[in-house]
Amino acid sequence: MSEFSYSISVMKRKGIILAGGNGSRLAPITKSVSKQLLPIYDKPMIYYPLTTLMLAGIKDILIITNERDNQNFINLLGDGSSLGISINYAVQSRPEGIAQAFLIGEAFINDDPVVLVLGDNLFHGYELIAKIKQALNVTNGATIFGYPVSDPERYGVVDFDSNRKVLSIQEKPLHPKSRYAITGLYFFDSSVVKKAHLVSPSTRGELEVTDIHNMYLNEGSLNVELFGRGMTWLDTGTFDSLNDASSYIRTLENRQSLKVGCPEEVAWRQGWIDSNDLKLLAKPLINSGYGNYLLNLLEK
Ligand code: G1P
Repeated sequence: MSEFSYSISVMKRKGIILAGGNGSRLAPITKSVSKQLLPIYDKPMIYYPLTTLMLAGIKDILIITNERDNQNFINLLGDGSSLGISINYAVQSRPEGIAQAFLIGEAFINDDPVVLVLGDNLFHGYELIAKIKQALNVTNGATIFGYPVSDPERYGVVDFDSNRKVLSIQEKPLHPKSRYAITGLYFFDSSVVKKAHLVSPSTRGELEVTDIHNMYLNEGSLNVELFGRGMTWLDTGTFDSLNDASSYIRTLENRQSLKVGCPEEVAWRQGWIDSNDLKLLAKPLINSGYGNYLLNLLEK
């Protein structure tokens, strides 16, 4: 594939961040503010999945929020133009499962391939960009990622035969067949919308994304990549995981003087905004030190 056709396929791909839900596992913190607006150390949680999409070269993004906090997300990120991207918003009135994102986002997806990232998932590591590029090169079917965890029963779980052929994907199995959880980063072709329409509510009353994975699996077009050692995947939906994620980011950022999940920096490095734009973004952020970080990027 030539470089030119590669950039065309990246450009057409849409991105969705699912940031709905009522964050009940974080109550009372979430009584008046969405989980995805809570801080992970020095920035709102949603900055992390947003930069994951931006690192994938995705500039056309839909953020799905609950009704109450829709305006707060708009206050935070606007229409994306200051980052050189386009952000649209939609409301999920009731949290009825991840697959619902493709029904809510149907008109936005409009026959293009789409990447969905969960608003409370944080990805970081050397491997991330290479794995994303690999997934972007697959134009038919789905690419999802497995990650070894100590508590797979909390997640969708994939298991393989000895040739790494996927045998099954099960949502929150009581007796997981492997320790590989499916992360909240999903690359789908445009058939995902049709598939989402076929999903019926599970016993927990949700349209499970795992049902969509299984449709791709049955069609022979599910690609499961594994993240190895050195990759960090955190979901941040409980008190402990929220705190762990903040400590992780604090440790890394202070040690390296490099920010993780900084959308202004990614936009600038991608060439979507220029140095003047970055200076403007930095100005109102000087008091916290975040702005100085952005300005220092220009000196290096
Ligand atoms: C959801 C998915 C699950 C996936 C997880 C990743 O779980 O249903 O398959 O492993 O996200 O964060 P939930 O957030 O609904 O517990």
